[in-house]
Amino acid sequence: MIWERKVAVSKMTSSINSGTNTWSAPSNIALVKYWGKKPVQLPANASLSLTLNKSKTIVKTKWEKCTDKEAQLAFTFEGKETPSFNQKIQKWYESLKREMTFLNQVKLTINSTNTFPHSAGIASSASSMAALSLSLMDLAKTIGVIDLDEASWLKMASSYARLGSGSAARSVYPVAASWGLVDNEFASAVQDIHPVYRDFGDAILIVDSGTKAVSSSLGHELMNKHPYRDLRFAMANRRVGELVELLKKDDFEHFSHLVEVEALELHSMMMTSNPSFILMKPKTLEIIDRVRKARANGHEICFTLDAGPNIHLLYPQRAREFAMKFVSECKSADLLDQGQWIDDQVGNGPTKED
Ligand code: PMV
Repeated sequence: MIWERKVAVSKMTSSINSGTNTWSAPSNIALVKYWGKKPVQLPANASLSLTLNKSKTIVKTKWEKCTDKEAQLAFTFEGKETPSFNQKIQKWYESLKREMTFLNQVKLTINSTNTFPHSAGIASSASSMAALSLSLMDLAKTIGVIDLDEASWLKMASSYARLGSGSAARSVYPVAASWGLVDNEFASAVQDIHPVYRDFGDAILIVDSGTKAVSSSLGHELMNKHPYRDLRFAMANRRVGELVELLKKDDFEHFSHLVEVEALELHSMMMTSNPSFILMKPKTLEIIDRVRKARANGHEICFTLDAGPNIHLLYPQRAREFAMKFVSECKSADLLDQGQWIDDQVGNGPTKED
């Protein structure tokens, strides 16, 4: 059966007329990448990510009941109107109004902030769309337009987040989530994860803090006519299945091999698309080389990449001392943009702050 977002949208049963809520949602790092999509924002292949802890978006929503004509969303980022974000969020809000029809009866004022620097070259769409979606779903619960159990509520939040940004679907869950394996409409929490992954380290090494050379929308589109598309989608689907099993055990050797090959495959898709892009920088390759040499010497570190030049250095906590030494050597060797890096790790997912 096809899953549907079911909001009982008819009437607000609550007599509350205004209120606020604050939600924070973390970013996530895909170990198997979503790269290629079909309408409406459905994945061409399954993906799987680790949920981060420190790199978060915090969304504060104020709402009050109003007439149809007064219904609007006033959105600011870090207290300021930001046209580039606003456009994306307004488009999402308009599409949501068709399903969450109670939005036609509320005036929303939302401010969003990130815990990570804007200049760090880290995409904030996953954390921000997840936090926004959770905040609106919380509002729907408060005013009585939905009455769902926790699991169904999260599915729906994941599905609305997905409409804003595909990877955001996975950010509503703790530790690790897959999307496109259980269902395409929403992501699901990965089950039976070995304790070693529950606090897995992710040192995000900023090689270049500039804006992304290829937006994810263009990247997804390039897969439509990519010569290797069918093989790529099959490989990604297969890897998600393998990784779900690997996450149940402490097997760093196989984990690191799968994760690195997958990251390089994402980049090879970009290198072999038309037009073609090389998103890694010489310093990215230098760090990769150092990671592999360290691993050959028995150290448990590996890397993954997003659609950009920055390295996510992944490690079990037992290897933290070495990982920190590695980061500091990268810094001394001038491999990091202004020495920037983020000391993150796997985390427990979104929280309601008030
Ligand atoms: O969510 P989007 O449309 O920005 O796409 C995200 C794509 C990657 O970050 C490269 C991979 C992923 O699955 O997160």
